[in-house]
Amino acid sequence: MTTIAFLGAGMMGSAMIRNYLKAGHQVRVYNRTLDKARPLTEFGATLADTPAQAAAGADLIVSSLTNDVASRACWTGPQGVLSATLKPGAYAVEASTVSIDWVRDLAAQASAKGLRFLDCPVAGRPDAAEAAKLKIFAGGAAEDVDALRPVFMAIGTEVQHLGPVGSGITFKLIYNVMGAVQVAATAEGMAACEAAGIDLRVAAHCFSTGNTNSGHVIRHSRYMAENRHEDPVQFSGNMRIKDVAYGVELIEACGEQSRLGRATIEVFAQMDAHGMGDMNDSELIDTLRLIAGRPIPPKT
Ligand SMILES: NC(=O)c1ccc[n+]([C@@H]2O[C@H](COP(=O)([O-])OP(=O)(O)OC[C@H]3O[C@@H](n4cnc5c(N)ncnc54)[C@H](OP(=O)(O)O)[C@@H]3O)[C@@H](O)[C@H]2O)c1
Repeated sequence: MTTIAFLGAGMMGSAMIRNYLKAGHQVRVYNRTLDKARPLTEFGATLADTPAQAAAGADLIVSSLTNDVASRACWTGPQGVLSATLKPGAYAVEASTVSIDWVRDLAAQASAKGLRFLDCPVAGRPDAAEAAKLKIFAGGAAEDVDALRPVFMAIGTEVQHLGPVGSGITFKLIYNVMGAVQVAATAEGMAACEAAGIDLRVAAHCFSTGNTNSGHVIRHSRYMAENRHEDPVQFSGNMRIKDVAYGVELIEACGEQSRLGRATIEVFAQMDAHGMGDMNDSELIDTLRLIAGRPIPPKT
């Protein structure tokens, strides 16, 4: 059993916390909005008022937070993890999708405090997190990844070691740019089919069974064809923009181009411009309908 401090009881965090508890670990939870974390006490979690309180003496500190701003506040803010009395040699794991620059900065600050730092972003939506079917992309020392592998298997099915610190988030950002391009292409393809008079259920079937298919195409073309989007929202248009912006920055810093990444940000920015940025990424098709002057069908 490991004492885990977990920062961020959002959709992904809450599911991971429940699975760590089910596996027999002790979990101390910090969430900015304390009330949202309260239901986790029914599963055995204890709540902390500050990230520092959660982290003090823990064996492993994990965060699953929106972006760089949230991660910085929880790790290095005034009552952040790094201000706590920490267990020497404890593991510090950033599981959020954040920027490479922030991960490098945090890794240096955490190591200076005697923590063993790993970047371990996850792939899989909240339903996969709930089912303990996440993929973990780990960056860090091989012995640290091996030491945590059994703990991570409580939340996922695969732990892939991508290389030293920073490699997990590097891969995850490239992976997410590719994924976001596919979601944007699905919305444009489905909208074009509709404009051309093609039945969207037939189109979704053909996209999902032909060489165009991928997990994103299969899931999102079905939502678009059925006008049945996820409720509550699982991944918004604005979260896509956040991920792809971090990804494009990283890819271009490597000396490569990301023209599709840049175009994808523009496509999703149209959702935000029409007040739809916090809706599901699959609802991009409705923004495209609005722009083209076609009616948005009622949700089913
Ligand atoms: N949803 C997905 O499909 C998915 C899949 C893979 C990876 N991810 C990544 O996982 C991370 C969490 O995503 P999620 O879907 O769980 O999001 P979420 O449900 O919106 O949760 C976000 C969490 O971040 C906290 N937070 C936001 N701003 C903060 C700030 N300034 N200071 C402190 N805490 C702050 C929120 O606290 P409050 O409750 O107080 O707002 C909440 O705990 C993100 O990096 C995301 O990109 C998501």
